[in-house]
Amino acid sequence: MNTTFLDACRGKKTSHVPVWFMRQAGRYLPDYQRVRNKLTFLELCKNPALCVEVTLQPIDIFGFDAAILFSDILIPMEAMGLALEFHDGRGPIFPEPVRDLQKITALRVPDPEEDMPFVLETIRLLRQELKVPLIGFAGAPFTLATYVIEGGSSKNFFATKSMMFREPELYRAILDKITACTSSYLIAQAKAGAQALQLFDSWAGALAPCDYERFALPYVQTILADLRQHTDIPLIYFANNGATLLRHTAGLDADVLGIDWRIPLADAIRQAGPHAVQGNLDPLALFLPKAELEARIAAMLEDARAARGYIFNLGHGVVPETDPDQVKIAVEAVHRFSQVNQN
Ligand code: CP3
Repeated sequence: MNTTFLDACRGKKTSHVPVWFMRQAGRYLPDYQRVRNKLTFLELCKNPALCVEVTLQPIDIFGFDAAILFSDILIPMEAMGLALEFHDGRGPIFPEPVRDLQKITALRVPDPEEDMPFVLETIRLLRQELKVPLIGFAGAPFTLATYVIEGGSSKNFFATKSMMFREPELYRAILDKITACTSSYLIAQAKAGAQALQLFDSWAGALAPCDYERFALPYVQTILADLRQHTDIPLIYFANNGATLLRHTAGLDADVLGIDWRIPLADAIRQAGPHAVQGNLDPLALFLPKAELEARIAAMLEDARAARGYIFNLGHGVVPETDPDQVKIAVEAVHRFSQVNQN
């Protein structure tokens, strides 16, 4: 078992810097496309054998040091009773957004084993196959709430923020339910065999820091506290566009903070408090010519020597247009340069 990822999460020394990429399974891979062409995205998410297959693809092809469960952050929102649709090229849609008390009351807090058995089955099957650690995940409550309140993706989060400011008790009621759902979902993933857990707060950076502190952070704290009572596996919190929030996130009881590319890695490490750090190559830097990509990776590894623990990753997900050969170059560069760096 290659434990470099888990060791780095805990700030232990490793033989090389571990690397995995957010969205490492997905449309940039021809092997993923071949599987995905036969069924819809949601059908794929509910088919454990195929989820195992697409989770393993990037591990086998590129030699990543960790696998991330193939699923989606919105699966538990469907299990809460909301209709969910994915249309190619348009992202996720909730045809009936949650904006009044009646709809909030109707939301169920699902039983993960009953309502999302395919996710837990995927985890169990993966643990039999994998020689690298398996990361489970969920969306953070604020990010999930934006999707269900807006009815899908959004640019300025008008519906979410106006509910937050004008009907805070409604907003709090939704967030409380999503938080309860997320805690029990992640605890179930850990019980099924996930070896680390990541919370994705993809839209946290849309909030002013004072609003993040009131309307997003407390729910993340609740989940982390719930998880600490049930499991001792490493916990990762990733706030996309979160450099302005580090003052708040540096105090979280997570083992690792995920960092996006809008802040120099060295600055993020200085501000990350006691945490290990994960990130933060711009996903579009994978389009650089080989020599420049390698030079950028070498510079990041140099800066990362100051970190309490360091996991190489992108600052957000791989984009579908990415050339898989460039991913291979990046993973090999991280491994090669970090081994040299330790001598
Ligand atoms: O490899 C992995 O990272 C594991 C699988 C994974 C997916 N989604 C698969 C996916 C993970 C960890 C996610 C998380 C996710 N999903 C997030 C948080 C991370 C982030 O990117 O900010 C968010 C916000 C979502 C919601 C979501 N799912 C969106 C906005 C979209 C559409 C946009 C897009 O990229 O197509 C999805 C669909 C989705 N999730 C795909 C995949 C592989 C593409 C679906 C397809 O095959 O058509």
